[in-house]
Amino acid sequence: MPTLLPAELERWQSVESIIKKILSSYSFKEIRTPLVERTELFQRTIGEQTDVVSKEMYSFLDRKDQSLSLRPEATAGVVRAGIENGLFYNQTQKLWSMGPMYRYERPQKGRYRQFHQVNMEAFGFEGPGIDAEMVLLTSRVWRNLGVDSIQLELNSLGTAEARKIYRSILVEYFNDHIDSLDEDSRLRLEKNPMRILDSKNPEMSDVIQAAPKMNDHLDQESKDHFTGLLERLDGHGIEYVINPRLVRGLDYYTKTVFEWTTNELGAQATVCGGGRYDGLVKQLGGQDVFAIGCAIGLERLVELVELSNKKDQNGQPKIYFVAVGDKAEAKSSKLAELIRDQFEDCILEVNQDGGSFKQQFKRADRSESDIALILGDEEIQNETIGIKLMKEGGDQETIPEGKLLDTIAERIGT
Ligand code: HAM
Repeated sequence: MPTLLPAELERWQSVESIIKKILSSYSFKEIRTPLVERTELFQRTIGEQTDVVSKEMYSFLDRKDQSLSLRPEATAGVVRAGIENGLFYNQTQKLWSMGPMYRYERPQKGRYRQFHQVNMEAFGFEGPGIDAEMVLLTSRVWRNLGVDSIQLELNSLGTAEARKIYRSILVEYFNDHIDSLDEDSRLRLEKNPMRILDSKNPEMSDVIQAAPKMNDHLDQESKDHFTGLLERLDGHGIEYVINPRLVRGLDYYTKTVFEWTTNELGAQATVCGGGRYDGLVKQLGGQDVFAIGCAIGLERLVELVELSNKKDQNGQPKIYFVAVGDKAEAKSSKLAELIRDQFEDCILEVNQDGGSFKQQFKRADRSESDIALILGDEEIQNETIGIKLMKEGGDQETIPEGKLLDTIAERIGT
């Protein structure tokens, strides 16, 4: 369970505040539910056979021997709170929440035992318009944070009835190919056969590729809903990939499921996941309301934002001004202002607090600058400036002071 230190939290807070503004602009309102719920709630919603419930929950008995669990996700708690507080009675709701979740997973980069989600849920909307809106909202989050290396994957899991039929077709198929299944998948065959489609075992990829697809067994209602969503996304120019193997790790989904994934974060590639869960509120004793939601993993998003911004910065030329001696220092600061006036896209760092040429070049190196500009007594006297291309190696050149701006323009290609 990582501790977030002040330097990291500055980045977190700026990401969080951008997301909150967007949520509000789509008319979502905040809800805060407890970190702890009855274990039974998660068993009934997420599903007893899922990895999350069967292997990953932090569960304990309270002083009256009631089993409680730290929340592994937010949807179950929001649904419970909505039912208890009459939020679904004759009204629609758009609710967001943000906070820590707990899963006893094998920790690795991008996967932690305490992690944070921004979670959003919309209740009471039947048509695919809200599915599209959720995609638009999340895609606006990526855009406003400068993240572009992210793709949308979509699938439809159909209604509960259609899925039951598909499930039995799938069980029959995998039973016929039982020799090709690994041990994990054989266990899943009885309890959660659709998760076999999710297996990352390369030895099983052929048998999974050839498995019957949910799309071919969808009921008409789900087909129409999915088509409606795709048409809306097309209308907005949102790119997507239909992934018939996308089944998600939680049991409550119906119809639309989606994930935003990236190639930048290694194995933990899913930054956001969600979908519809139309039957869940009723199943927990509430009204029969339509529901859809998704959650963004903040650890992964913050990391991705940082990688994307670094890349952007890499696109910006960086100059370090080396200046040795009082006169050189004063002049370097003046010239730097001129350069900043002319080259707005440039990152320019002027050496501060003195140091020898050697020390200052070291700093220039460390700052990963493309160009070092050099001023010492000799240059001041001759009204020249030294220039060195740091990344390409090569010798230092000397140019007349009057040619400085032209030379920089040539070097950084503007
Ligand atoms: P989930 O796919 O289990 O969905 O989690 C959503 C996101 O939380 C993941 O895509 C990932 O970014 C992040 N996440 C999950 N586990 C970890 C972990 N151990 N470490 C770091 N990040 C993690 C849900 O939780 C659903 N409740 C989403 C939803 C809302 N569906 C409908 N409404």
